[in-house]
Order: sequence, then structure tokens, then C-alpha cells
Amino acid sequence: MLAAAGSGQRLGAGGPKAFVEVAGRPMIEWALEALRAARSVDRIVVATPPGEDALAAELGVEGVTGGEHRSESVLAALELVDGEVAVVHDAARPLLTAELVDQVVDRLLTDESLAAAIAAAPVTDTVKRAGADRLVSETLDRSELWSVQTPQAFRVAALLPALEAGDLERATDDAMLVEERGGAVAIVPSSPENMKITTKLDLRLAELLLSDRA
Ligand code: CTP
Ligand code: MG
Repeated sequence: MLAAAGSGQRLGAGGPKAFVEVAGRPMIEWALEALRAARSVDRIVVATPPGEDALAAELGVEGVTGGEHRSESVLAALELVDGEVAVVHDAARPLLTAELVDQVVDRLLTDESLAAAIAAAPVTDTVKRAGADRLVSETLDRSELWSVQTPQAFRVAALLPALEAGDLERATDDAMLVEERGGAVAIVPSSPENMKITTKLDLRLAELLLSDRA
């Protein structure tokens, strides 16, 4: 499923971010193309912004009205799904590849003990912890840190109860809600190129990377 119901405040494009043009087409179409090409995907549901229900039909996909927070949009889409495995992807990551989608699903399916398998890139910056006083209390061991992305593949039996019971306002990804309930989550190493578009700077970079694919 594609989470595309955000308003894109930080990009400031004056409309929903997923439908902002990047390298010649609405951002969401790039990820949609990768999902359609993925061997492991047989149905796609898009969560669209409230009042923008027509957008899904224009894209030729099933749509559902998203919620106020990201994971509420994911839950709304998940409620339509009846399969055993669901892949969650953010429309804000247009550099998705079909290979990465298949990799997270394959990783999940090769290990029965897993509740989820998620794409992530190794952290390249040194990360420190500091409180409101801006004084450093800790430098984290970078070799153990991953910058988490989507796609994230889940067993629906693990994700659905985690979303139904979770604090969806606080969740910055869906896997954390599964982890908090004791579900095992595996990392699938991915490229930093699978970037998330948050700001205008990100949009310029994605434009550059996607123009090679256009
Ligand atoms: N998203 C969603 N429903 C929401 C909020 C976000 O489906 N209520 C989706 C966005 O469309 C995006 C992804 O979740 O594909 C990641 O969210 P983010 O990058 O924060 O996008 P926005 O919320 O649109 O941006 P901002 O936070 O700057 O407003
Ligand atoms: Mg947001």
C-alpha cells in the first residue's frame, strides 16, 4: 500500500506532496510504477488526502481516504487488505525499485519468526544525543545504526493489531509499533538513493536522480 495522504507542509508546494511533479510526472507515479513491476505485489491500495478521493481513480488504483497521521492512513488502507503479507511504502520515496520491494517481502517470507522486514541504509553521520540544554550526553555507536526507509513488509497478523492498539500520532514508522509488541523486525540493507522527499532540497536532488530514469 502507498501512504500518500500527507499535506506536504515542509515542502510547501501548496498541495499534497505525493502529487507534486518530479522529473515530469506526479511524485506518486514513480513509486506506483515500481510497485506494479514488483513480482511480490498483486494488489495496490493508495491512501489519499481527505477531499482528494478522485486522485486514486485518476491513477487507476484502489483508493482509501487517509487519516490525520501517517499510521492512521496506513491502517485505513490495511483494513481493505485480506492477504497475509502487506508492504507499506511512502509515496514521498519516488526512487523505490521493484527489486527492493521483492527483497523485503522475500526476507520476511524466508523466516517464519519475523513479523516484518524493512529497508534501511547504514547511517553515515556520527549521531549524538543531547537534551534541551544542547549539551551532549552520548555519542551512539554508528556501526549499529540504520536510517530506516520504506518499503516495509509485514505479516498482516502482526501489523493490524499493532496499528489498532498503537499510539499512531507518535509513530514515525509502522515497524516501531510492531517492535513494541515484541515482533521481530529484520533490516534489509538498502541504498540511501531511496531517499524521502521532505524539503525543497530533497526535491531538487530527486529531480536529478529521477531524470536519469525518465
Ligand atoms: N502520509 C499519509 N498520511 C498522513 C501523513 C503522511 O499517508 N496523515 C504519508 C505522506 O503522504 C508521505 C509519507 O506518509 O508519503 C511520509 O510522510 P511525510 O514525509 O511526513 O509527508 P507529509 O506529511 O505530506 O509532509 P509534512 O510532514 O511536511 O507535512
Ligand atoms: Mg508528515
